[in-house]
Amino acid sequence: MKKKILITGSSGLIGSEVCKHFAGLGWQIYGIDNNQRSVFFGAQGDTRWNQARLQETIPSFTHFEIDIRDRDGIIKLIAAVKPDAIVHTAAQPSHDRAAAIPFQDFDTNAVGTFNLLEATRQYSTSIPFVHLSTNKVYGDAPNEIEMVELEKRYDYADVIYAHGIPESFRIDQTKHSLFGSSKVSADISVQEYGRYFGMPTVCLRGGCLTGPSHSGVELHGFLSYLIKCNLEEKEYTVFGYKGKQVRDNIHSYDVARFIEEFIAAPG
Ligand SMILES: NC(=O)c1ccc[n+]([C@@H]2O[C@H](COP(=O)([O-])OP(=O)(O)OC[C@H]3O[C@@H](n4cnc5c(N)ncnc54)[C@H](O)[C@@H]3O)[C@@H](O)[C@H]2O)c1
Repeated sequence: MKKKILITGSSGLIGSEVCKHFAGLGWQIYGIDNNQRSVFFGAQGDTRWNQARLQETIPSFTHFEIDIRDRDGIIKLIAAVKPDAIVHTAAQPSHDRAAAIPFQDFDTNAVGTFNLLEATRQYSTSIPFVHLSTNKVYGDAPNEIEMVELEKRYDYADVIYAHGIPESFRIDQTKHSLFGSSKVSADISVQEYGRYFGMPTVCLRGGCLTGPSHSGVELHGFLSYLIKCNLEEKEYTVFGYKGKQVRDNIHSYDVARFIEEFIAAPG
């Protein structure tokens, strides 16, 4: 019998990549997405094209039009699907948008994640639960690290950060934006379900993630949006840092590969 994976935010950048990846590994795919990205960002953020692509190209894919804020709906769905693993990528993903829609942001990121955690626990405490967190949990604190200006980019002055910011970096006593604070809440809840109930949970604190399936908008998904502006010959605005590179990008395929490794051996 095929293994079953439940993926929230399945029409988004990371969710759709994980759907495709696990379908390729022979899993049965169950996706949750209600196209909330188009509510957050308007028509440019519409993810229906990606949902349709998954439905057309993955025979083992089933779509559920459920809002992760719908607590009872999520509890019933997880109990009915009985997944072998859960990957949670649905979110309100933008700092700037969060300040304009604080209730939607918190209800989606913090409460939606909590709904999924508790619904998972009620079904099983032994299935892997992968949460897409964010490096914004560190708030502004990384800006205190000394940087050097290079020709095309900024880099950390101290080699101890050569591999990035460690997970032991502080997450409090810093300004996060409302988005950052709702994601901290989710991140801590995911860790707590791991520690308190012994569930195999993990938080992935990515920085800039990119890939072919992003519905890029100015406020989120900058590489996708940059390419879109280029193709449509629209003006692209560069904000700050003299236009130099300040962040690395991780491809959604690499995120999916890591998730595969974690689910194979959560520990
Ligand atoms: N893209 C990045 O650069 C980046 C960086 C760091 C962390 N992350 C995190 O990774 C995760 C995935 O990001 P992404 O870039 O794939 O985002 P995305 O917006 O492309 O995908 C998220 C999907 O979730 C859906 N969704 C949102 N709210 C929902 C709700 N209430 N119910 C059901 N579905 C809902 C949206 O419609 C969208 O299709 C998020 O948690 C985000 O915070 C992303």
